[in-house]
Amino acid sequence: MAATMATTGLAPGNRVADLCTGSGVLAIEAARLGAESVTAFDLSGEAVACARTNAAAAGVVVDVRQESFRTAALSGPFDLVLCNPPYVPCPEDPEVAPVPANIGPALAYDAGPDGRLVLDPLCAAAPDLLGDEGTLLLVQSELCGIDASLRSLRATGLKASVIARQWIPFGPVLTARARWLESTGRLPVGRRTEQLIVIRADVP
Ligand SMILES: C[S@@+](CC[C@H](N)C(=O)[O-])C[C@H]1O[C@@H](n2cnc3c(N)ncnc32)[C@H](O)[C@@H]1O
Repeated sequence: MAATMATTGLAPGNRVADLCTGSGVLAIEAARLGAESVTAFDLSGEAVACARTNAAAAGVVVDVRQESFRTAALSGPFDLVLCNPPYVPCPEDPEVAPVPANIGPALAYDAGPDGRLVLDPLCAAAPDLLGDEGTLLLVQSELCGIDASLRSLRATGLKASVIARQWIPFGPVLTARARWLESTGRLPVGRRTEQLIVIRADVP
């Protein structure tokens, strides 16, 4: 996502929002690239503290807010919106496919049985976040429905397409969920890699 953002040339001189900022890595990169302003949002107080510390250590200005992506539009509009949301499918009963205890907060990765708990409302609300000629860059896995995101974004009137793809090996969460994902038909039996993609959605 960071490399893709740099390739688009959309951060310099623009108002950037990073939704679900986590460590702040994308917000910090946008600031480094010369964004006019960067506002970062995360529900987690620990993530907000971490992102503030990381921005200060990097010597860049990022306005980090403990706030849901759902209310970020009130601080807009933005020229560029970045989002690497939670998108890992999870069973209703966590005991069906428990993840290792030291893996970090589920808020950072779990996104309901289809992985779309954040993606669906985010795609539907994308135009509210964007100014004239604004752009959303969104990261997700193939395992939570690429076409569903493209359809949802296009239904709002945005022009949306996949602009980057990368195969990666499963991390610890997907490794723990692999059998369950196979049983739901979301994962071909025996595969332990996933494709991550970046969607670009533009105000026409
Ligand atoms: C995959 S992590 C993001 C990592 C970071 N953006 C990056 O690129 O490395 C997802 C983040 O979304 C946050 N989050 C989950 N639900 C949220 C919501 N409704 N509004 C804002 N942030 C949320 C979590 O606290 C977590 O920090």
